[in-house]
Amino acid sequence: MANAITFEELEGGFGLATLNVPDAKVNTLGRRILGELAELVGRLESRSDLRGLLFRSGKPGQFIAGADLKELGALAFVPKEQAAKGLALGHELFGKVSKLPFPTVALIDGACLGGGTELVLSMDERIASKSHETKIGLPEVKVGLIPGWGGTQRLPRLVGLHAIEMITSGEPVSAERAAAIGLVFDAVPVENLIDEGKRVVELLRHNDMWKQQRERRSQPLGLSTDQLMFAFGAAEGVVREKTKGQYPAPLAALAAMRNGINLPLAEGIKAEQAAANEVVGTPISANLISVFFMNNRLSRDPGVDNPEVKPRPIRRVGVIGAGLMGAGVAAAFARSGIPVALVDVDENRLADGLRRASEVVAGRIKIGRATPEDLAHMLALMNTSTNMSLFSECDLVVEAITENEKAKSETFRKLAEVLPEGSIVASNTSTISISRMGNFAPSAERFVGMHFFNPVDRMALVEVIRGERTDDETVATIVALAKKIKKTPIVVRDCPGFLVNRVLFPYMNDALQLLGEGVSMDAIDRAATKFGMPMGPITLHDVVGLDTAFFAGKVLAAAFPDRSAETPILQELVLAGRLGQKTGAGFRKHSGKKGKPEADPEAEALIAKHVKKRSEPSEAEIVDRLFLPMLLEATRVLEEKIVRDPADVDMGLILGIGFPPFRGGILRYCDQEGAAAIVERLSRFADLGKRYEPTESLKALAKSGGRFYPTPKLGDAFGG
Ligand code: NAI
Repeated sequence: MANAITFEELEGGFGLATLNVPDAKVNTLGRRILGELAELVGRLESRSDLRGLLFRSGKPGQFIAGADLKELGALAFVPKEQAAKGLALGHELFGKVSKLPFPTVALIDGACLGGGTELVLSMDERIASKSHETKIGLPEVKVGLIPGWGGTQRLPRLVGLHAIEMITSGEPVSAERAAAIGLVFDAVPVENLIDEGKRVVELLRHNDMWKQQRERRSQPLGLSTDQLMFAFGAAEGVVREKTKGQYPAPLAALAAMRNGINLPLAEGIKAEQAAANEVVGTPISANLISVFFMNNRLSRDPGVDNPEVKPRPIRRVGVIGAGLMGAGVAAAFARSGIPVALVDVDENRLADGLRRASEVVAGRIKIGRATPEDLAHMLALMNTSTNMSLFSECDLVVEAITENEKAKSETFRKLAEVLPEGSIVASNTSTISISRMGNFAPSAERFVGMHFFNPVDRMALVEVIRGERTDDETVATIVALAKKIKKTPIVVRDCPGFLVNRVLFPYMNDALQLLGEGVSMDAIDRAATKFGMPMGPITLHDVVGLDTAFFAGKVLAAAFPDRSAETPILQELVLAGRLGQKTGAGFRKHSGKKGKPEADPEAEALIAKHVKKRSEPSEAEIVDRLFLPMLLEATRVLEEKIVRDPADVDMGLILGIGFPPFRGGILRYCDQEGAAAIVERLSRFADLGKRYEPTESLKALAKSGGRFYPTPKLGDAFGG
């Protein structure tokens, strides 16, 4: 393979190293590249004749994306010593970079992240290009790691306590911000980088400033005990609140900084190594890395297998139904610059829809994530009417009217009269068959499900549901469009509940069964949140609405009668008018201070009527009762080829219901526990019937010792 690093000598005695990993979109620091870098550094160690070294990327607008995550992910499958060796390798190399016998300057154009940032931190200076693409950061905690190649020590020595926020949040900073906090020397136009680099080398050479600077930066930072206590105490509070003890990496990063920054650099590096060894190669980190790759895969997936199929251009979109969902969907299009026609039978709903769309953007203006121009732009792209003739130039109409099959079919018939030939119709239905409704659409081939999640502005997932007759071009078009409005589409074949609600249903249903067995609401919710769910299933009922949950449950119970277990509890509460948060009372009361849910004796009494026995299962048992039926449904979805890949199921759950990313999804959870162990745990619930009966694919994996996801090749592991 061609070399990734080239070295040339410029006039005036400057060296210029250029990193350009062949056949790759971005530069990553894998074993091979680090090997090449080590070779170059070895050659340069004796070149004290050089005036200075400039280091840049050969990919315009792309500096270094970080370490090779494939290699880091594979560390979960190798012995701890190998993982530690991988870390030591980087430390050693960057240590040598920091000691080269001439000033070194990094010229950063584009994203400089993770290991890339640690490399440039080991150089004497950094200059960034003034480009929107340029951002510098240490996002390691987002994949369950800490900056382990000197980042936790060198960054604070450069930017002081700003490092705490940068490292624990993992958020990168812009070129301008980097210049303001002293992370880079300056931000300059990209075409000036080399000249500025030479100028900075000369500055550093003046009075041997580079040598003094190196000496200073190898010393303790010298913070007072008060400063340390205050800054780290506050940061730890924020981190604990955010991670609820389920993500150890930000705390490990804080420990590395706190233990290391008041020591000489060499000692600080040891403190970092100790903290990094705690998190590297752990299942949590491997899972978070896998989520990164699953996301990547989805962002590249065209949604269809035939590479010849291309999405059609969508210039103008219509949305019918300006309720909770329709208004949100229309705003999502307009915010991405797509003109939208929004139609509803009710004038007030239209006005209300526009108001809610504006409020979302206004909220973002307040936190600096949008500008008043964005708001004006969005509103200029939204037209409303009670008349469907507004759709006459739309390439696509998304239907989001009330969940009623007859009303929807009638709407499709009317759409056929106003839509231009060849346009696509998509439905946002949660429960009605896309294949069946296709028969009433202007064209069944160009009819598809486009299922958004509530609230639309915050939920990234869109299920793209393929009916029996939906054609490839329509699927590819909706997938491309969903990405354009910054959503994550997952293609699902039509079935009751589609992907997310189908897999969620058994979990919700068994939560109700547990109530009927006398288990308390709090015990059920606690087991789920300890497992990592953002809220427990009882709270989730109150949030989605008991009537909605009841209705969806009925549809799924009718579709899968062999594994549904009826309970009158939900109906009892719905009949009592307790619909959840929206009516102030559901399983709990929501009328107290700040709407914080409180136990409600009235609900408890209604439930008590249907408690058949009193059992006190352990927390582990409750977890199994909730998540094993969910897992079984996930395996059925795969067996029936409702989705094309296990990662579709896992990402659907992570994005759709907040399944804990640190577990990597329900199928990956099964891989980690082992299919055989899961089958054994299921056998304890055999008397509960089909709901807990292992599926064929699970039994096969249990027998063969196989997994849903292949084990990474051990040779891939870093340091191997
Ligand atoms: P909603 O009740 O808030 O809004 C429905 C809107 O449709 C109302 O503004 C109503 O005036 C209008 N409408 C009714 N018939 C119409 C017709 N013939 N022509 C034009 N407008 C008409 O309902 P929501 O919650 O927005 O749900 C809409 C669709 O989205 C449903 O199919 C629902 O299943 C689905 N959905 C709902 C989710 C939720 O969390 N609420 C989540 C995902 C999908």
